[in-house]
Amino acid sequence: MLMKAQCTTNEGMLGDFLLAANSGRHLMMRMPERDAETDEFAESVAAGLAARPRRFDCRFLYDSEGGRLFESICRQPEYYLTRTESAIMAARAEEICRYTGPVTILELGSGSSGKTGQLLAAHAELHGPTHYVPVDVCENSLRQACRDIPARCPAVRVTCLHGTYEDAFALFGMTSPALTLFLGSTIGNLDEDQADSFWRSVAGGMATGDFFLLGVDLVKDEQILNAAYNDAAGVTAAFTRNLFARMNRELDAGLELDKIEHVAGYNPRRERIETRARFTAPQSLKVGPMGQSFSIARNEEILVEISRKFRLPPLLEHLRSHGLIARKTFTDQQQWFGLLLLERI
Ligand code: AVJ
Repeated sequence: MLMKAQCTTNEGMLGDFLLAANSGRHLMMRMPERDAETDEFAESVAAGLAARPRRFDCRFLYDSEGGRLFESICRQPEYYLTRTESAIMAARAEEICRYTGPVTILELGSGSSGKTGQLLAAHAELHGPTHYVPVDVCENSLRQACRDIPARCPAVRVTCLHGTYEDAFALFGMTSPALTLFLGSTIGNLDEDQADSFWRSVAGGMATGDFFLLGVDLVKDEQILNAAYNDAAGVTAAFTRNLFARMNRELDAGLELDKIEHVAGYNPRRERIETRARFTAPQSLKVGPMGQSFSIARNEEILVEISRKFRLPPLLEHLRSHGLIARKTFTDQQQWFGLLLLERI
């Protein structure tokens, strides 16, 4: 059975979490800040348009429609990331669980938890019942996880947290021994500075001996990278355009969506895919809740998302500087994707 709780404060969340952990039931916890999602969206859009160069925060790509489109991206033939990571996970889940021993499994940006099933099943097989705590800003995907995981793995108790990564950091201290998952190369959405503060918070919250499983997309042939972010069916383009559809829905932005194009390409110098929206006609973008309006010029391009690609040696060195040591490094045969089991020392 699924219980629901609205957390009042951070401390309230921790109390709810302990209750859930001891009640043996599935729980959906919602951070109060989620009620202010539209306000945060409005503020973020206005701030991004006031900045130079202009940019948007990719977190807002994931409303329920965005979550659905992302699931569809994962099934596109060009988007090798999900299936490559899944295959590595399937081959290594047992080895990973053997190494960690019994742990609470947290997942940051869990989406619909598709790849986690294998790991949870391996954990249950080796160590018995476990507690799984998926964290996501997309409530729709979490609901799906809350339905699917218990059906697939009855030995797993699920406590969903509808919130941000920052909300999840508060749980690190009380879940030890723990394994935190951050899959799909979501880390690639953070630039160098954001990643550095992310790792500072993560490592700061983890207890010595806790584990972190990180999925990263690796530097490879440019054509393969470009194809992955420009699928022939146009799903990625629809995903980018949905950000502006969401602005129309929630902010009364008044945009003409058919005059906004998805432009994604690999920047070899920065080793990242840069996804931009190109405005093929001048438009004015209204941020209704803030009573502001911004002019966008014809052919203006605004950065929507970065997807960094990694090389293992410098990445491992960076992680080590945060007290995170790679105990196991897995890749596929083509070395397209990496799955790293890190331990906090
Ligand atoms: C889920 C953020 C890792 O950057 O590859 C996929 C999102 N954007 N296609 C990525 C995404 C366009 C994806 N991440």
